Amino acid sequence: MNPEEELEAIASEVAVCTDCKLHHSRKHAVPGEGPANADLVFIGEGPGFHENEQGRPFVGAAGRFLEELLASIGMNREQVFICNVIKCRPPGNRDPQSDEMRACAKYLDRQIRAINPKVIVTLGRFSMARYFTNVRISAIHGKASMIMDRLVVPMYHPAAALHQPSLRSVVTEDFALLPGLIAHNQQISSLDVEQPADPEQLNLF
Ligand code: URA
Repeated sequence: MNPEEELEAIASEVAVCTDCKLHHSRKHAVPGEGPANADLVFIGEGPGFHENEQGRPFVGAAGRFLEELLASIGMNREQVFICNVIKCRPPGNRDPQSDEMRACAKYLDRQIRAINPKVIVTLGRFSMARYFTNVRISAIHGKASMIMDRLVVPMYHPAAALHQPSLRSVVTEDFALLPGLIAHNQQISSLDVEQPADPEQLNLF
């Protein structure tokens, strides 16, 4: 299967997935969207109200801010792959639970393997926790770490910046690093590093 076919296969499986309780309340699963050859993958938390209605990621207020942030670095959402840690909306937009994240992890793993992006941006603490444990987002946001041949950059969730205006400039500054990181990783051929116990030891920037 080529990457496009694999992404389509994952989306079809997600649409009928019953591996956790969230399938009972979903209207539409939200597998994620974007080109299979994207350099940049954004991983959010999970679908909210609008995403559940439309079956597309980041289409509400946080999505509009994400589009603004992309525009600030001369990019648009059609150029990047946007997805979430969990593919179905938790009732009332509550936090994802660990059994739900565990059940859904296989889809995100496959998406990342298929896309093979240069840079992964985690948006918020739930996607950050996929790569970094026992760290605070305030300590590591905007710092890139090389993990399994890709740069992973934790950032604040756009929704957090909407609720806390002082974070807007922080997220905007973190986004400004992305073009340089993509260019940088274009030049790195292979640096096989296991997931770090202390990710800060691996910070490159
Ligand atoms: N917030 C997320 O984390 N993901 C979405 O898709 C929308 C809002």
